[in-house]
Amino acid sequence: MRGLAGWSAARPYVQAPSRSSLTTGCIRFPRQSHFQTHINSRQKAPNLSRVQHRSVSTTTATDVGSGLTRFKNVVLGSSIVVFLSFTYLYITDTRAGIHEYVVVPILRKLVPDAEDAHKYGNQSLKALYTFGLHPRERGSPDAEGDLKVEVFGHVLDNPIGTSAGLDKNAEIPDPVLALGPGLIEVGGMTPLPQEGNPKPRVWRIPSQNALINRYGLNSEGADNAALRLRQRVRQFAYKLGLGLDPEAERKVLDGEAGVPPGSLMPGRLLAVQVAKMKGTPDDDIEAVARDYVYCVDQLAKYADVLVVNVSSPNTPGLRSLQQTAPLTAILTSVVGAAKAADRKTKPAVMVKVSPDEDTEEQVRGICDAIWASGVDGVIVGNTTKKRPDPLPQGYILPAKEEQLMLEQGGYSGPQMFERTLALVKQYRRTLDKGPIQLTPEEQRGGAATTKGSDVQIGPDGSAELTPERIDESVQRDQQRLKPLTAEAEAESKQPIFKLPERHVGTAEPAYELQASEPAFSSSTHAIQGTSSSSPSSSPPSSKATSTSFAQPSEQKEKVIFATGGITNGKQALEVLNAGASVAMVYTAVVYGGAGTISRIKSEMREEIKKR
Ligand SMILES: Cc1cc2nc3c(=O)[nH]c(=O)nc-3n(C[C@H](O)[C@H](O)[C@H](O)COP(=O)(O)O)c2cc1C
Repeated sequence: MRGLAGWSAARPYVQAPSRSSLTTGCIRFPRQSHFQTHINSRQKAPNLSRVQHRSVSTTTATDVGSGLTRFKNVVLGSSIVVFLSFTYLYITDTRAGIHEYVVVPILRKLVPDAEDAHKYGNQSLKALYTFGLHPRERGSPDAEGDLKVEVFGHVLDNPIGTSAGLDKNAEIPDPVLALGPGLIEVGGMTPLPQEGNPKPRVWRIPSQNALINRYGLNSEGADNAALRLRQRVRQFAYKLGLGLDPEAERKVLDGEAGVPPGSLMPGRLLAVQVAKMKGTPDDDIEAVARDYVYCVDQLAKYADVLVVNVSSPNTPGLRSLQQTAPLTAILTSVVGAAKAADRKTKPAVMVKVSPDEDTEEQVRGICDAIWASGVDGVIVGNTTKKRPDPLPQGYILPAKEEQLMLEQGGYSGPQMFERTLALVKQYRRTLDKGPIQLTPEEQRGGAATTKGSDVQIGPDGSAELTPERIDESVQRDQQRLKPLTAEAEAESKQPIFKLPERHVGTAEPAYELQASEPAFSSSTHAIQGTSSSSPSSSPPSSKATSTSFAQPSEQKEKVIFATGGITNGKQALEVLNAGASVAMVYTAVVYGGAGTISRIKSEMREEIKKR
C-alpha cells in the first residue's frame, strides 16, 4: 500500500498542481513506486535546479494567466454592468428616441389590432412601473418654472395634459404622470360596468397619424375605479408613514400631505371623467343626472377636477345633452354633488364638449349652461364625427385606410388642430363675455330676461328651471341643433323634466350679479415668454402654490382645456395663447410613444426662446 508519507516524500519532484487542476480534480501523479522515485530523484539530482526553475517559471506564467483571466472577467463584468445601467437609463428616459422609433412601430407590427395594442401598452406600463422600469422624465426639465401655469388655484409644473380614454379605468395614473404632464384625465367612467360597442372598434390611420374609435364608453364602472383610487391614496399615506387606514386616507385627501388629493404630486392635477350609461334614456334628464351624480359621489374625493362627458360621439344621443336646458340641469346636479364631496377641498368641475357643435348659437348656449350651473370650465374638443377635409394636398389615401375612413366613430388626429384652435378662441370670446347680463330690475328678483341666453335666473341669482322655462328653452334648442336624421329628431325631443330633489338649488350662484360686469381678464393661461391673447394677462398669482387649494368658486374666469389634434410644442403654445390653460394630447401619444409629452414641452421651450 502506498502510504501518504511516500507521496509526500516524492512531492518535491512533482510539479505543483495548478490552481485550475485543483479545482477540476484532475491531478495526475506519476505512476511509480517510492523506491523508484527515490532513485530517480538521485539520478536526476543534477537537473534539479533546472526543473525547479522551470517549475517556478511555469507557476509564474500560470499566475499571470489567471490574473489576466481575472482582469478580463472584471472588465467584462463591469462592462455588462455599465451597459445595463446605460440601457436602463436610456430606455427609461422619456427623451430616448427608442420610444417613438422602435417601441411604437414594433407594437404596431406585432399587434395589428389597435385596441389590443392599447391594452398591452397600458399593461406593460403598469408592469414596468411595478418594477421601477417605467419610462420617466429625467432631469426635472420643469424645475425652472418656465412653463408653469395656474389652474383652479394650483400652480401646475407645465400646461400639457393627457386626455380621457387613455386610462379609462384609472389603472395607470402614476406611470402616466411619470411621463411628465401637468395634468392627466382618467376615465370616462360610467356608474356601472359596461362593455361598450362590439369589437373591432378602434382603427389606426397610420398615413395620417390618426385614429378612429367607437369604444362606446367601455368602463369597469365607477365603484371599481373608486376602489383603485382609494387604494392608491392609502398606499401613498402608508409610504408617508401615516398608516393604511381610513384616517390616513382622510389626512391625505384633506391636504395634510401637502399635495393635491387627486394627483398626489405637487404641481400636477388628476382629472376624473364621468359619463352616463348607454342604456339610460337621454330624454330622462333626471335619470341621466342621477348617472353622473352617482359617479361623482363615488369618485369626487379622489379627483382634483371632475369632467362631465357629454360629447362622446359613440353613445347615441349623448351629444344632444349639450342643449342648454338639459346641460344646465345636469351640470347643476354635478356641481351640487361635487360640493358635497367628503373632503375638505372640493374638486373643480368641467364639461367636455364636442367639436362638432360649433355654431355661434350652440357655443353661446353651452356657455350659458356653464355660467348658470356654476361649472368651473370647459374642455373644448373631443373626437369628431366628421372626416378631415381636406387631406394634405395631393395626398391619396391607401385603399385600406380609405375604407377605414368610412367606419362609424370619432376621428382624432393632427388634422383636427385648426378646428380646435378656432373653437378655443370662440369659447374664450364667448365665456369672457361673462354670465347672462341682468338689468337692475332682474337683479331685484323680477322677471329675468336674458341676453343671448335660454337660462332663466331666479331671485337668488341661480339658474331657475321651471317646467315652462325648460320647455321654452328646449324648443329653442331644437331649432338650434337641427337634427339631420329621423332618429336624431326623435332623440332630440326633450320632454319636460324635473331635477333630482337632492340637488335642486344646492349649487351656489356661480357668479356675482353685477349689472355691468366687465369681460373677464385672462390670467390663468400666461406662459412666460409668450404674449397672451388677453391684454391683461399676468403671471400666476403669488398666493397660489401647488399646495394651496383655492375653491373653484373663487375663480372668476372660466377655465378652458383644449384637446384635438395637438401634436407639437408650437401648437400647444397656440392654443394656450388663444385662451386655454392646458393643452391635452391623446393620439399624438399613440403615434409618438412615451416621450411625446417631454418632446412637446421641449419644443415649447425652443419656440419661446425663438420668440
Ligand atoms: C381610443 C380613444 C378613446 C377615447 N376615449 C375617450 C373617453 O373615454 N372620453 C372622452 O371624453 N374622450 C375620449 N377620447 C377623446 C380624447 O380624449 C381626445 O379628446 C380626442 O382624441 C382628441 O384629441 P387628440 O387629437 O389629441 O387625440 C378618446 C379618444 C380615442 C382616440
